[in-house]
Amino acid sequence: MKDPSLRRSVTLFRAFLNEQSDPDACYSLLARDAADQLERYGPLANRTVVDIGGGSGHFTEEFRRRGAHSFLFEPDVRELRDRAPEGTVVADGYLLPLADGAADICFSSNVLEHVEDPRTFVSELVRVTAPGGLIYVAFTNWYSPWGGHEWAPWHYLGAERARRRYERRTGRRAKHTLGENLFRIHIGTTLRQVRSRTDVELVTARARYWPFLPAVVPKIPLLREFATWNLLLILRRCP
Ligand SMILES: C[S@@+](CC[C@H](N)C(=O)[O-])C[C@H]1O[C@@H](n2cnc3c(N)ncnc32)[C@H](O)[C@@H]1O
Repeated sequence: MKDPSLRRSVTLFRAFLNEQSDPDACYSLLARDAADQLERYGPLANRTVVDIGGGSGHFTEEFRRRGAHSFLFEPDVRELRDRAPEGTVVADGYLLPLADGAADICFSSNVLEHVEDPRTFVSELVRVTAPGGLIYVAFTNWYSPWGGHEWAPWHYLGAERARRRYERRTGRRAKHTLGENLFRIHIGTTLRQVRSRTDVELVTARARYWPFLPAVVPKIPLLREFATWNLLLILRRCP
């Protein structure tokens, strides 16, 4: 699918709406989309690609389908859903069991908002990436309409209230609790942190799912916090 395009955004949005009923279709589509985005910077074939916090492994599988040597690193065995790709490592992204520069591409989709210290998390991604290699980091920021995840958009009225409302309405336990496994993360702060680093070059910062002008939205202070939805950063490790 062409990125950006209205057709792509609508297709992804429809898949998200069916995420609960058909997670495999949703994540397979998202994985193909992310692989297409990465292949704009060069083929994945024969590259070493590590997927940090990759959940049930759809991204790792897609990278392998395209010929990459790809490995999933996931700390929570429940997320693997009994379908982890062979060679999966149960590991925390803060402390990866990988040598410096082991990966050509370090990939992390929708994990940053789930860690308490995103700056340290990104440092570990940078450490394991080879000089000249790419780091793909995408996350949902707090003021995104989806910032509160399953209790969105009620997070705008307060996280705890939104979580309680979700549990009352659905009768289910919410998966996320602010300050435990979901954290407030902002576009402006994250961009400033990344730009202040001397070990990476910022290749692109774009609204991951936007159908038009995806690189413009994250440039506009304030508006970007509400309109970006999900920020994709592609960084290149300095030689
Ligand atoms: C919303 S899921 C994203 C899964 C997948 N990457 C995707 O884009 O669909 C968040 C994932 O982050 C993982 N995670 C949370 N804290 C982590 C950490 N410290 N290191 C690595 N992964 C972590 C969770 O276990 C979970 O699999």
